Amino acid sequence: MKIRVDLGARGYDVHVGHGTRAQLASIIRERASRAKCAVIVTSPKLRALPWFDLVTGLETDVVEVPDGERAKTPETFVGLVETLAQRGLSRDDLVVAVGGGAITDLAGFAAASYLRGIDVLHVATSVAGQVDAAIGGKTGVNLVAGKNLLGAFHQPIAVVCDLDVLETLPPRDFRAGLGEVVKCALLEGLGAEELRLMSFEAQVELAISLKARVVSGDEREGSTRALLNYGHTLAHAMERASILQGHDDLRHGEAVAIGLAFAARLARALGRLDDAGVEVHDEMLASVQLPSRVPAQYDTADLLEAMSHDKKAHHDLTFVLAGPQGFSVVRGVDATLVRDELEHFRGES
Ligand SMILES: NC(=O)c1ccc[n+]([C@@H]2O[C@H](COP(=O)([O-])OP(=O)(O)OC[C@H]3O[C@@H](n4cnc5c(N)ncnc54)[C@H](O)[C@@H]3O)[C@@H](O)[C@H]2O)c1
Repeated sequence: MKIRVDLGARGYDVHVGHGTRAQLASIIRERASRAKCAVIVTSPKLRALPWFDLVTGLETDVVEVPDGERAKTPETFVGLVETLAQRGLSRDDLVVAVGGGAITDLAGFAAASYLRGIDVLHVATSVAGQVDAAIGGKTGVNLVAGKNLLGAFHQPIAVVCDLDVLETLPPRDFRAGLGEVVKCALLEGLGAEELRLMSFEAQVELAISLKARVVSGDEREGSTRALLNYGHTLAHAMERASILQGHDDLRHGEAVAIGLAFAARLARALGRLDDAGVEVHDEMLASVQLPSRVPAQYDTADLLEAMSHDKKAHHDLTFVLAGPQGFSVVRGVDATLVRDELEHFRGES
């Protein structure tokens, strides 16, 4: 199936299904007809997997970068664009990112910057990458001060989501990706039972369709795209604390899951959501076996500090919250209320 991200001349299809990687060469022929060379950016770990049988139809080099979040550093970014230059990639050529969200973020940013922007095609290989990271054109790397602080908007020419490659994904990473699926189900107003009854394919389609629709209407996050940050205020704070403390013990989707559970409680404390609404969040997260409590090593004061510095917070405490009229971005949430709710949330059994 093809799901369209409708951005006029910069629009593209997300090719979702079993075995879609076999279409790579024909998609490239159609979308990058002048390209002569492709550089596939991936990690050594992914390159060794059985599904790494990609055919681009072009002269192709494979460039390896560190695996996972370790790829998203300014140093790796500079190394990668130097490599693109050494390989003599021209404006008509193409970067093909093959990996999870970390690699598509890095390679997308390299493609956005090299020669002031060349084409990139994402072959998303993780659940989080397929339902979220590879779609929408946000690219970038991390700084010490926070995640994704150095980057650019750069839409891919196509996204390939082959569900078969997910078979090699470690169970924990598979589950973590479902954090974004739960987020989309909540934003779409689904109940826990409705989500449970959906096939995995239908869940992926739900999440991709929502992201494609929202990005089509608000590419640069001037309005509705911000709603996709549901659960992300606390999630980003935990990720920032992890970077500062030098550990990496939470997957992005796990952090989002915890952030969703907390956002529900905050909405309830503000009189925007009832107990049943909080329960829907908890049931959905439990049904996909995702954590919904802040791990002990995070300090409440550190998280509050990090939340007020979230790059999307505009210097006050900003959350996407459920409400009687649907979801909205709520700015200037009282810090004492957030601290008390966070403490209470942490104390829940
Ligand atoms: N650009 C965006 O809009 C956006 C949105 C959400 C998340 N992100 C970013 O995405 C990243 C998280 O993405 P992620 O969860 O995919 O993590 P990831 O890219 O770090 O991958 C997690 C692990 O899974 C492995 N992996 C990926 N595909 C595999 C497969 N098919 N088989 C076996 N192993 C596989 C990777 O090698 C890595 O070890 C974060 O950096 C986050 O900031 C970006």
